Amino acid sequence: MKNPSALASKNLYKSLRSLSWHELWTAHVPDFDSQDSSSRSKNAALVRAVGVVFSESGRASEKNQVAAWLRSLLHDSDEKIRRYAMAALPKIGSVAADEEALILVLRSANPEAREKKYLARALDKIGGRATLEIAGDLSPQTLLKVSASVARDDSPTEIRLHQAVDSHLNFQINLRGRRGLEKFVRQELEESCRPGEVFDFRAMVPGVVVVTPRSQFCLSDLLSLRCCGTFAFDLGSITKLSAEEIAALITSSTALQLFRSLTQGAIRYRLDFPAMGHQRGLIREIANRTFALCSDLLNDARSAPWVIEIHPKGKQYSVELRPRFSPDPRFSYRKMDVPAASHPPLAACMARLAGNSGQDVVWDPFCGSGLELIERGRLGGVKQLLGSDRSADAIQISRSNLEASQIPVNADFFHGDFRHTNLTPNSVSQIITNPPMGRRVPIPNLEGLIQDLFDTAARVLIPGGTLVFANPVAPQNLNKRLALDLTERIDLGGFDVQLQRYIKTTK
Ligand SMILES: C[S@@+](CC[C@H](N)C(=O)[O-])C[C@H]1O[C@@H](n2cnc3c(N)ncnc32)[C@H](O)[C@@H]1O
Repeated sequence: MKNPSALASKNLYKSLRSLSWHELWTAHVPDFDSQDSSSRSKNAALVRAVGVVFSESGRASEKNQVAAWLRSLLHDSDEKIRRYAMAALPKIGSVAADEEALILVLRSANPEAREKKYLARALDKIGGRATLEIAGDLSPQTLLKVSASVARDDSPTEIRLHQAVDSHLNFQINLRGRRGLEKFVRQELEESCRPGEVFDFRAMVPGVVVVTPRSQFCLSDLLSLRCCGTFAFDLGSITKLSAEEIAALITSSTALQLFRSLTQGAIRYRLDFPAMGHQRGLIREIANRTFALCSDLLNDARSAPWVIEIHPKGKQYSVELRPRFSPDPRFSYRKMDVPAASHPPLAACMARLAGNSGQDVVWDPFCGSGLELIERGRLGGVKQLLGSDRSADAIQISRSNLEASQIPVNADFFHGDFRHTNLTPNSVSQIITNPPMGRRVPIPNLEGLIQDLFDTAARVLIPGGTLVFANPVAPQNLNKRLALDLTERIDLGGFDVQLQRYIKTTK
């Protein structure tokens, strides 16, 4: 149970927190300012409430006055009021005067340890160049945070896509993607990306294709692969999640060469533990250790161009360095999206799975934002792309994405239910599609819808034509004119479906 004065202060904070900024500023703050020091101490919760309420509301002109008031409280005789003012200042929207005021307290007032912690936290958030000038007075963590934020503001960091990477550096590259798509990633790697010249295939495990560089390459070579989700340099494996071991891999000579040669501007990275939660404490420790070993590696969660990912790997963990592209330049034509848009690398896999007969007429009956059609169009050999969807917005979106892709192809889009298509029998050579899965919007009879897709496909496809789609229902096609040619269980982002290819029989 809290002591009575702490409880009273908490309750006071709660009631003040619910007031408007206007009430606080025009009534409570003047009242507080007129009180003697013992009443002010009891009402210190007001300073906290002002910080929080003004972080969410209030006009810029008042905020300036609030910041000046908080700066004056940094010298209050009451330690609690000073600390609350330190915590509140960064919330208001910082100006140089706030940073100066905090530095002044840090340097001249010789604060106690607890107050120093509050000062450091405030400077972590708003510190800039002036803070870096007093590096000797700062904790390594504050120095790291402020260095990262100064670097972020100073120079836009970019990844050098066309910089040659030396193949003598000893590393593997992990091409990661949705489970079940590894085969397609491997096939694409072997057929494109200067086949056989650049990368050697090494291994395939669920969701990952491992390759090694055979000769010099650029990141742009890897960006020519469309079937994988991401690619990352494997920096090595560790047996337990130890900050020391992870920091050692991040600062290994291979990692440093990659970081330094492939980054234009300050080297900023974030740390991610996919499938392992936030790991905030561990992240802080790794970031500080890494900074102590190498002061040009700045941990920065905000728009960092690099991610260090730690992935479970059997009984071990692999530590990977991944360039971060947002938006993904491979799919830059995606100017707009539909709610259940396909995963772009899956659309690329499906387009490859459909093949290329040279003069294909390709239909996507559930075209959504048009990814399957556009990916198929990119592969060439298309006479016409046809898209339909029962959503008028989706049709508009498909059209504009196709236009943004600049693929010179003849295309037509129709608004309506696929069952009522007026496509003539035996007129389409490929159907590539991701139907609704009944996950986000329940479908009363999903099996019926999929059977209707089979029947429509059997009617409009030419003999020998191909249907490629992600099948969400188990029962097999009952239409005898379509023969199952390939089926592969794939992860569609949390649930599995069968990626299937059917060929229309010639009889
Ligand atoms: C999974 S999304 C397709 C995503 C698409 N492949 C993309 O890249 O964005 C399914 C689409 O099917 C459409 N749809 C659902 N039922 C339909 C029907 N009976 N006829 C035509 N379109 C339908 C929805 O409007 C939605 O855009």
